[in-house]
Amino acid sequence: MTTLKTLADHLAAERTADNAVKDVVVVIAQACVQISRVVASGAISGSLGAAGQINVQDEEQKKLDIITNDILRDALKACPAVAGLASEELEAIETTGQVGGFLVTFDPLDGSSNVDVNVSVGTIFSVLPAPTDHEPTEADFLLPGRRQVAAGYVVYGPQTMLVLTLAKGVFGFTMSAEGEWLLTHDAVAISADTAEFAINMSNQRHWAEPVRRYIDGCLQGKDGPRGKNFNMRWVASMVADVHRVMMRGGIFMYPWDQREPDKPGKLRLLYEANPMSLIVERAGGKATTDGKTAILDLQPTKLHQRVPVVLGSANEVDQVAATA
Ligand code: AHG
Ligand code: MN
Ligand code: MN
Repeated sequence: MTTLKTLADHLAAERTADNAVKDVVVVIAQACVQISRVVASGAISGSLGAAGQINVQDEEQKKLDIITNDILRDALKACPAVAGLASEELEAIETTGQVGGFLVTFDPLDGSSNVDVNVSVGTIFSVLPAPTDHEPTEADFLLPGRRQVAAGYVVYGPQTMLVLTLAKGVFGFTMSAEGEWLLTHDAVAISADTAEFAINMSNQRHWAEPVRRYIDGCLQGKDGPRGKNFNMRWVASMVADVHRVMMRGGIFMYPWDQREPDKPGKLRLLYEANPMSLIVERAGGKATTDGKTAILDLQPTKLHQRVPVVLGSANEVDQVAATA
């Protein structure tokens, strides 16, 4: 058996990224090993179930949302390269007293509704440059996704995997039994074409007309305008659904819908959409709000901003634009 490269070896050989960014990535990767252990321990450690409180997103928190948030927060606060952090589970940003270095935004446990039924969940993170002349304020976090210096996710599934992009390329690492990250997926690329879509079909009646038209075309299969049959998957953990797209192509959509017309979508720009969009674009896919507008070009206006998401195989994302 050939020896696989460790994350440390991979980072050492990655000359285009700043060493301090690599330190931040290592801290996050180590925290995610801890998260994987507590997620895997489930009912044994008594960590399943609801926490009995509502978070800033107006969503019911699971015990594991809080436990995983604390693991990442504590690890990042101890990292000298981190000046500030923002989490889906925290109302406000937190600073570390450092000036310069990096800001980290994260979704500590993505897909947490799946955790009690033992279906894949994940962690998503984004690393941004911190201001160099003052302690970060909330406004300093509101940078377009193109400014990210690193982004990644960890999927806690049959295998625990870290998928990472720094200055270029997307690399996948599998966690060993010893808790070491080993490079198993070199230069991940998303196929340009696909016949698999992911959307929560139970919201169909609430969608806007262009989304209905696009999905309707897929559902008609060989007999419809697309002339081919489509398959559908919806895990309801963005990390797991996007990971499938990374591995075998596909399109993932969480569009605006009429249930709450004032909400632009469900997914959060800074914790979910931006990091996933950087990873998808780096792997040759497209990440948009509607098939056209690139998520990475959006100027965020608030920390917990939500955004519609249409991402995945490039030609299929173009199809959404063409159908609209
Ligand atoms: P989170 O658990 O971090 O709040 O995120 C859940 C998100 C995302 O992971 C997933 O794609 C989507 O919610 C599923 O939503 P539905 O339950 O509406 O399908
Ligand atoms: Mn999430
Ligand atoms: Mn979450």
